[in-house]
This record gives sequence, structure tokens and C-alpha cells, in this order.
Amino acid sequence: MTAVTELLSGYSAYFNNELNNFFPLPQGAEKKVVEAMRYSVMNGGKRLRPFLVAETAGLFGISRAQSLRTAVALEMLHSYSLVHDDLPAMDNDDLRRGKPTCHRQFDEATAILAGDGLLTYAFEILSDEKTFPDADIRCRLVNMLGNAAGAFNGMISGQMLDLYAEKIPCPKNPEQLIKNIEEMKTGRLIRFACEAGAVLGRAAAREFSALTEYARKIGVAFQIADDILDVEGDEKLMGKALQKDKNQGKVTFVTVYGLENAKKIAEELINSAKNILEIFGSKAGSLKDLADYVINRKN
Ligand code: IPE
Ligand code: IPE
Ligand code: MG
Ligand code: MG
Ligand code: MG
Repeated sequence: MTAVTELLSGYSAYFNNELNNFFPLPQGAEKKVVEAMRYSVMNGGKRLRPFLVAETAGLFGISRAQSLRTAVALEMLHSYSLVHDDLPAMDNDDLRRGKPTCHRQFDEATAILAGDGLLTYAFEILSDEKTFPDADIRCRLVNMLGNAAGAFNGMISGQMLDLYAEKIPCPKNPEQLIKNIEEMKTGRLIRFACEAGAVLGRAAAREFSALTEYARKIGVAFQIADDILDVEGDEKLMGKALQKDKNQGKVTFVTVYGLENAKKIAEELINSAKNILEIFGSKAGSLKDLADYVINRKN
């Protein structure tokens, strides 16, 4: 294990333990949806986005405990996106994080509701007074998360393009198309993670923009790595079916640029992401290492 994977796994242990407290089971028959929500979140995700919230907030002296609820809200929202992404009408996947996907474990209607439940719960958690004492900061976080996850240059736009690109055999400008897809469907939540840390830490404008730029680059690189791993990853480690993008006719960095060029582009993005962090000096060491992890990861 490298220092940063050790740090990430330490954070995951802390995070998973805290996350447990967010799912009190209702008594009635409706408890099935809460079970499905819990199943879809408490199932061994890498917790990269929560870790990014904690690390960026940490640059400004905010403790893990102080950034926890923001990190939890983001992971709820990310997990919802995976539940819906796996549905038969979208990517139609049977395996997620090494376990049956939510609609396989429960049923399709429950999975749709569990996704909706996680999405709304994210905003309930984020807006709660316990998340951060200052209401202005909470309001800004709620607005930012809505924008990052939404249909106006947010995650939903990216997911829509991802599906649409699949239906057109030869898009006119595949390079631009794929950049838009990856920036939005995956990049926006990663960007939220870093910007949320900056907001919690009341970052100066210059620091905020540096974190935005860092996040944009690692966000795209993260999805390029996902596309590469779809081709040459280990299914057991990944915990999901691979070789799916080509079979489903997806437009990805690998299908557009080829494997080797995709790797080169990802590396360039990571190097420039690390350079951007220079303004934080030695405090940003783990965020730099995390950038390397984004493309060297095996799962
Ligand atoms: C998977 O995200 C979906 C993408 C955006 C590529 P992660 O690779 O972060 O999945 P988990 O949360 O660790 O399962
Ligand atoms: C998922 O992208 C992005 C979101 C869920 C927003 P993919 O469809 O490539 O993710 P995997 O490969 O199923 O994890
Ligand atoms: Mg998808
Ligand atoms: Mg998918
Ligand atoms: Mg994928």
C-alpha cells in the first residue's frame, strides 16, 4: 500500500463507521426502501469523494468531523447515481461493488425509489444545522450540489449525453463530445467534493479557483481511468462487469482515442493537476498523491 491508499483506507474506516448512524430503520412495510438505500451505500465503495471533501477542507484546518456530514451527503448522492446508472433502462448491470446491483438484490421499483431516497436524503443532510453552524455556508453547499448533480451542465446532463452518444454511431465531434460527457457525468461530483472543502474552509478566491481547476482535471482523469479499467481491469477487483463500454457502443476516451493515447491524456491531466496545487505548499502532499492514485488505481 502506498501512503495515500493507506490514508484513504483509514478515512474509509472512519467514514463507514459514521455512515452507519444515518440509516435508522422505519418500522412499517416502507422499511424496504431504507434497506435498499442502506444496501447501496454501505457496500464497500472506495469513498474517494468523501475523502476529497475531508482533504480539501483539511487544507484550511477543518477537521474530519467538521466536514463529515458534507462528505456523507455527497456519498449518498453518488450512490444514488450508481443505483440508477445500473438500472436496465440505463447500463443494465448486475454487479456493483462486488455485490448484486440494487435492482437485482431488491426489485426495479424499489431501486428507483432507493435512488430517489438517497438523492433527497443528501439535501436533507446537507441543509441540516448539524452540518455546519453558518447558514450561508450550508445554503451555498446546497446550491452547489444541486448544480453539480443536475441537468444544467451537471451530472444528469453528462448521463443524458452518455446515453445519447451511445445511439449515434459516429458523432461529428467525438473529442468534444467525450470531454463533455466525462466532465459532467463524473467530473462535476468530484469538483463538488473539492469546492465543498474550499467553502467549508472559507478559502480565498485564488485558493478556490485552484481547487476547482485541480478537481476538473482529476475528475476527467478519473473517468478516463474508469474507461481504461473497463478494457484492461480485473473484474474481481473492480467489483463490476467489465468490457461493457465497447459492447454497448459507448463513446469513451478509449473508444475515441485508443488505449495508449487515453493513458497519455490522463497522465497529462494528472501532472497539471498536481502543479496547480503548488500554491498550497507541503500541505497539499496527500492531494497530489491522490491525483496519482486516480489513474494508478486497480479498482
Ligand atoms: C464509479 O465511481 C462510477 C464512476 C463515476 C466512474 P467510483 O469508481 O468512485 O465507485 P465507488 O464509489 O468506489 O464504488
Ligand atoms: C457512471 O459512469 C457515472 C455516473 C454514475 C454518474 P459509468 O457508467 O462508466 O460507471 P460504471 O462503469 O457503471 O461504474
Ligand atoms: Mg453509465
Ligand atoms: Mg455504468
Ligand atoms: Mg464505466
